[in-house]
Amino acid sequence: MPPLLEIDNLHTYFPTREGIIKAVNGVSLSLEADSILGVMGESGSGKTMTALSVLKLVPFPGQIVSGRIEFDGRDMVKMGDDEMRHIRGRQISLIFQDAASALNPVITVGKQVEELMLEHTGMSKRQAQEFTTELLASMGIPDARQMLNRYPFQLSGGMAQRVMMAIGVALQPRVLIADEPTSNLDVTLQAEMLHRLRVLREESQTAIMLITHDLGVIAQMAERVAVMYGGYVVESADTRALYSKPMHPYTWGLFQSLPRLDAAGQRLRPLTGAPPQMLDPPDQCPFLHRCSKATVECRTSPRPHLQTVEPGHALACYNPVEMD
Ligand SMILES: Nc1ncnc2c1ncn2[C@@H]1O[C@H](COP(=O)(O)OP(=O)(O)OP(=O)(O)O)[C@@H](O)[C@H]1O
Ligand SMILES: [Mg+2]
Repeated sequence: MPPLLEIDNLHTYFPTREGIIKAVNGVSLSLEADSILGVMGESGSGKTMTALSVLKLVPFPGQIVSGRIEFDGRDMVKMGDDEMRHIRGRQISLIFQDAASALNPVITVGKQVEELMLEHTGMSKRQAQEFTTELLASMGIPDARQMLNRYPFQLSGGMAQRVMMAIGVALQPRVLIADEPTSNLDVTLQAEMLHRLRVLREESQTAIMLITHDLGVIAQMAERVAVMYGGYVVESADTRALYSKPMHPYTWGLFQSLPRLDAAGQRLRPLTGAPPQMLDPPDQCPFLHRCSKATVECRTSPRPHLQTVEPGHALACYNPVEMD
């Protein structure tokens, strides 16, 4: 079976007065139906811009300049606004990283969920209201009925994130992109939210792209992982293979400093050394200057492309880490 969502060599750029910020610079990844893909990578590596590109919600002046985003066999990059409106929410939904500012500030929480249901399902107003109350309650929101009448600015960060999660799962989309969905939540609530995601997947066969800095969350939740660095995917593999045998020096470095891989809350640590240049980046490996394995070939060659090195394991590196 072909993947449900396949991103191929995607480029999303921000033209600025100083030059071109290549926020997404050749991302390739695929999401299988009924599976969870973890996406990790340091801050600024292009995870959110990749997610926003999929829904064609990249903020101005950013735009997709090339690449394909195939959903269900069709290229969304070529789709117009009308078609995208049908896809957003119902087919593919996004839990925004910045939940508080993604909610409409002038509409109450209740109305935001209700309107979604009224627009996309045959529910009556009353049914939509009931459904919304139950959904919010199932997100661990105490006093869900009161929550219906609140405005986004009245919510704490964690509360906004739960409302965002409710909106993301409300229509049982075929693909859910969750961008740091639990970063503002305490451990108990985080566990509850992750449970909700698993239930969604089991009940609706929703495929989930889970973007997070939390390596423990990925280990618990995802079958496959994509590691981003400098605007593209530098390694992707089955979770077990990637955690036990990371091959890209960046991935390898991430796991080196961790005491335990199976515990939640193991967040990516900032690496030492300067982050890659995103403004007019040179055509070379973005990890070059931080890499302990860099060779003459690495210094003199163009940016390495993601290539399959073992079944199911892809890598963009001229001199990978040998583990044996
Ligand atoms: N509105 C914008 N204008 C110009 N550049 C932007 C804009 N938004 C993001 N960028 C740039 O795009 C690059 C990728 O940003 P993105 O938000 O996708 O990173 P991220 O991987 O999601 O990081 P984080 O882990 O911090 O959420 C960054 O270098 C950032 O500076
Ligand atoms: Mg982000």
